[in-house]
Amino acid sequence: MVKSLKQLREEARACQDCPLWANATQTVFGAGDPHARVMLVGEQPGDEEDKKGLPFVGPAGRLLDRALEAAGVDREHLYVTNAVKHFKWQLRGKRRLHKTPAQREIDACHQWLEAEVATVKPHVIVCLGSTAAKAVISKDFKVSIQRGQFVESALAPYVFATLHPSALLRLQEDEEREVAFKQLVKDLSLIKKALSG
Ligand code: URA
Repeated sequence: MVKSLKQLREEARACQDCPLWANATQTVFGAGDPHARVMLVGEQPGDEEDKKGLPFVGPAGRLLDRALEAAGVDREHLYVTNAVKHFKWQLRGKRRLHKTPAQREIDACHQWLEAEVATVKPHVIVCLGSTAAKAVISKDFKVSIQRGQFVESALAPYVFATLHPSALLRLQEDEEREVAFKQLVKDLSLIKKALSG
Protein backbone atom coordinates (compact mmCIF):
# COMPACT_ATOMS: atom_id res chain seq x y z
CA MET A 1 0.00 0.00 0.00
CA VAL A 2 1.29 3.45 -0.92
CA LYS A 3 1.33 5.69 2.14
CA SER A 4 0.59 9.40 2.19
CA LEU A 5 3.42 11.89 2.70
CA LYS A 6 1.81 12.86 6.00
CA GLN A 7 1.99 9.24 7.20
CA LEU A 8 5.57 8.83 5.96
CA ARG A 9 6.70 12.10 7.58
CA GLU A 10 5.18 10.97 10.86
CA GLU A 11 6.89 7.55 10.71
CA ALA A 12 10.25 9.03 9.69
CA ARG A 13 10.18 11.33 12.73
CA ALA A 14 10.93 8.30 14.90
CA CYS A 15 13.53 6.68 12.62
CA GLN A 16 16.61 5.35 14.42
CA ASP A 17 17.79 2.99 11.67
CA CYS A 18 21.26 4.57 11.66
CA PRO A 19 23.08 6.49 14.40
CA LEU A 20 22.59 9.96 12.84
CA TRP A 21 19.31 10.64 14.65
CA ALA A 22 21.16 10.89 17.97
CA ASN A 23 22.98 14.17 17.18
CA ALA A 24 20.36 15.76 14.97
CA THR A 25 17.60 18.12 16.13
CA GLN A 26 14.97 16.35 14.06
CA THR A 27 14.25 14.30 10.95
CA VAL A 28 14.11 16.64 7.96
CA PHE A 29 11.63 15.00 5.62
CA GLY A 30 10.90 16.15 2.08
CA ALA A 31 8.63 19.13 1.47
CA GLY A 32 6.79 20.78 -1.36
CA ASP A 33 4.00 19.94 -3.77
CA PRO A 34 2.75 16.40 -2.98
CA HIS A 35 1.66 16.07 -6.61
CA ALA A 36 4.87 17.50 -8.04
CA ARG A 37 5.98 16.26 -11.44
CA VAL A 38 9.56 17.04 -10.42
CA MET A 39 11.46 15.82 -7.36
CA LEU A 40 14.80 17.33 -6.36
CA VAL A 41 17.02 15.15 -4.18
CA GLY A 42 19.88 16.66 -2.17
CA GLU A 43 22.39 15.06 0.17
CA GLN A 44 21.29 15.75 3.74
CA PRO A 45 19.96 18.70 5.73
CA GLY A 46 22.46 21.36 6.76
CA ASP A 47 22.64 23.33 10.00
CA GLU A 48 19.71 25.64 9.19
CA GLU A 49 17.57 22.84 7.76
CA ASP A 50 18.20 20.77 10.90
CA LYS A 51 16.92 23.62 13.09
CA LYS A 52 13.93 24.54 10.88
CA GLY A 53 12.97 20.98 9.89
CA LEU A 54 12.76 21.83 6.18
CA PRO A 55 15.05 20.92 3.26
CA PHE A 56 17.10 23.53 1.37
CA VAL A 57 16.22 26.60 3.43
CA GLY A 58 19.83 27.59 4.28
CA PRO A 59 22.61 29.09 2.12
CA ALA A 60 22.59 26.15 -0.35
CA GLY A 61 18.81 26.48 -0.61
CA ARG A 62 19.06 30.17 -1.41
CA LEU A 63 21.59 29.46 -4.15
CA LEU A 64 19.33 26.68 -5.46
CA ASP A 65 16.40 29.13 -5.54
CA ARG A 66 18.46 31.57 -7.64
CA ALA A 67 19.49 28.79 -10.04
CA LEU A 68 15.91 27.51 -10.37
CA GLU A 69 14.68 31.01 -11.09
CA ALA A 70 17.38 31.50 -13.73
CA ALA A 71 16.34 28.16 -15.29
CA GLY A 72 12.69 29.24 -15.31
CA VAL A 73 11.59 26.55 -12.85
CA ASP A 74 9.13 27.43 -10.08
CA ARG A 75 10.10 25.86 -6.72
CA GLU A 76 6.44 26.04 -5.65
CA HIS A 77 5.70 23.19 -8.04
CA LEU A 78 8.54 20.92 -6.89
CA TYR A 79 8.94 18.32 -4.19
CA VAL A 80 12.34 18.74 -2.52
CA THR A 81 13.99 16.11 -0.36
CA ASN A 82 17.33 14.60 0.65
CA ALA A 83 18.98 11.18 0.36
CA VAL A 84 19.68 11.29 4.11
CA LYS A 85 17.12 12.82 6.45
CA HIS A 86 19.29 13.65 9.48
CA PHE A 87 22.06 16.27 9.69
CA LYS A 88 25.50 14.67 10.10
CA TRP A 89 27.98 17.13 11.56
CA GLN A 90 31.16 17.65 13.52
CA LEU A 91 31.92 20.52 15.87
CA ARG A 92 34.60 22.96 14.70
CA GLY A 93 34.91 25.72 17.31
CA LYS A 94 31.30 26.71 17.87
CA ARG A 95 30.11 25.72 14.40
CA ARG A 96 28.45 22.47 13.40
CA LEU A 97 30.17 21.57 10.14
CA HIS A 98 28.64 19.24 7.58
CA LYS A 99 30.09 15.73 7.39
CA THR A 100 29.48 13.56 4.32
CA PRO A 101 27.16 10.66 5.15
CA ALA A 102 28.57 7.13 4.93
CA GLN A 103 27.18 4.63 2.43
CA ARG A 104 25.55 2.63 5.26
CA GLU A 105 23.70 5.79 6.37
CA ILE A 106 22.56 6.48 2.80
CA ASP A 107 21.41 2.85 2.57
CA ALA A 108 19.56 2.98 5.89
CA CYS A 109 17.68 6.08 4.71
CA HIS A 110 16.88 4.74 1.25
CA GLN A 111 13.53 3.34 2.41
CA TRP A 112 12.22 6.90 2.94
CA LEU A 113 13.39 8.13 -0.45
CA GLU A 114 11.82 5.09 -2.12
CA ALA A 115 8.59 5.70 -0.25
CA GLU A 116 8.56 9.38 -1.25
CA VAL A 117 9.08 8.42 -4.90
CA ALA A 118 6.30 5.81 -4.69
CA THR A 119 3.90 8.39 -3.25
CA VAL A 120 4.77 11.49 -5.30
CA LYS A 121 5.40 9.50 -8.52
CA PRO A 122 7.53 12.23 -10.13
CA HIS A 123 8.03 12.39 -13.89
CA VAL A 124 11.50 13.88 -13.36
CA ILE A 125 14.05 13.29 -10.59
CA VAL A 126 17.01 15.65 -10.28
CA CYS A 127 19.92 14.50 -8.12
CA LEU A 128 21.85 17.40 -6.61
CA GLY A 129 25.41 16.20 -6.12
CA SER A 130 27.17 12.92 -5.65
CA THR A 131 25.38 11.52 -2.58
CA ALA A 132 21.98 11.93 -4.21
CA ALA A 133 23.25 10.48 -7.50
CA LYS A 134 24.69 7.48 -5.65
CA ALA A 135 21.40 6.96 -3.80
CA VAL A 136 19.17 7.35 -6.86
CA ILE A 137 21.26 6.31 -9.89
CA SER A 138 24.25 4.13 -9.00
CA LYS A 139 27.06 3.89 -6.49
CA ASP A 140 29.74 4.58 -9.07
CA PHE A 141 28.05 7.60 -10.68
CA LYS A 142 30.46 10.50 -11.28
CA VAL A 143 28.69 13.86 -11.23
CA SER A 144 31.74 15.66 -12.64
CA ILE A 145 31.59 13.48 -15.78
CA GLN A 146 27.96 12.43 -16.10
CA ARG A 147 26.08 15.54 -14.95
CA GLY A 148 23.41 16.99 -17.22
CA GLN A 149 22.58 13.72 -19.00
CA PHE A 150 19.37 11.75 -18.71
CA VAL A 151 19.97 8.24 -17.36
CA GLU A 152 17.80 5.12 -17.35
CA SER A 153 16.05 4.55 -14.05
CA ALA A 154 13.18 2.50 -12.70
CA LEU A 155 12.29 5.39 -10.38
CA ALA A 156 11.09 7.92 -12.95
CA PRO A 157 10.91 8.40 -16.73
CA TYR A 158 13.50 11.20 -16.58
CA VAL A 159 16.43 11.20 -14.14
CA PHE A 160 19.60 13.26 -14.21
CA ALA A 161 22.21 14.61 -11.84
CA THR A 162 23.78 18.00 -11.51
CA LEU A 163 26.08 19.90 -9.18
CA HIS A 164 25.21 20.33 -5.53
CA PRO A 165 24.64 24.02 -4.67
CA SER A 166 26.94 23.62 -1.62
CA ALA A 167 29.79 22.63 -3.94
CA LEU A 168 29.41 26.05 -5.59
CA LEU A 169 29.46 27.79 -2.22
CA ARG A 170 32.78 26.11 -1.46
CA LEU A 171 34.49 27.46 -4.61
CA GLN A 172 36.96 30.22 -3.74
CA GLU A 173 37.18 32.13 -7.04
CA ASP A 174 34.25 34.26 -8.26
CA GLU A 175 34.97 33.22 -11.83
CA GLU A 176 34.87 29.50 -10.98
CA ARG A 177 31.63 30.02 -9.09
CA GLU A 178 30.10 31.83 -12.03
CA VAL A 179 31.03 29.03 -14.45
CA ALA A 180 29.61 26.41 -12.08
CA PHE A 181 26.43 28.45 -11.59
CA LYS A 182 25.91 28.56 -15.37
CA GLN A 183 26.40 24.77 -15.53
CA LEU A 184 23.87 24.28 -12.75
CA VAL A 185 21.31 26.53 -14.47
CA LYS A 186 21.89 24.78 -17.80
CA ASP A 187 21.35 21.37 -16.19
CA LEU A 188 18.24 22.54 -14.31
CA SER A 189 16.84 23.75 -17.62
CA LEU A 190 16.58 20.05 -18.57
CA ILE A 191 13.59 19.92 -16.22
CA LYS A 192 11.52 21.91 -18.71
CA LYS A 193 12.74 19.70 -21.56
CA ALA A 194 11.76 16.55 -19.64
CA LEU A 195 8.35 17.97 -18.76
CA SER A 196 7.58 18.70 -22.36
CA GLY A 197 8.79 15.24 -23.47
N1 URA B 1 22.20 20.48 1.45
C1 URA B 1 21.41 19.44 1.12
O1 URA B 1 21.83 18.51 0.45
N2 URA B 1 20.17 19.45 1.52
C2 URA B 1 19.67 20.43 2.22
O2 URA B 1 18.49 20.34 2.57
C3 URA B 1 20.50 21.52 2.54
C4 URA B 1 21.75 21.53 2.14
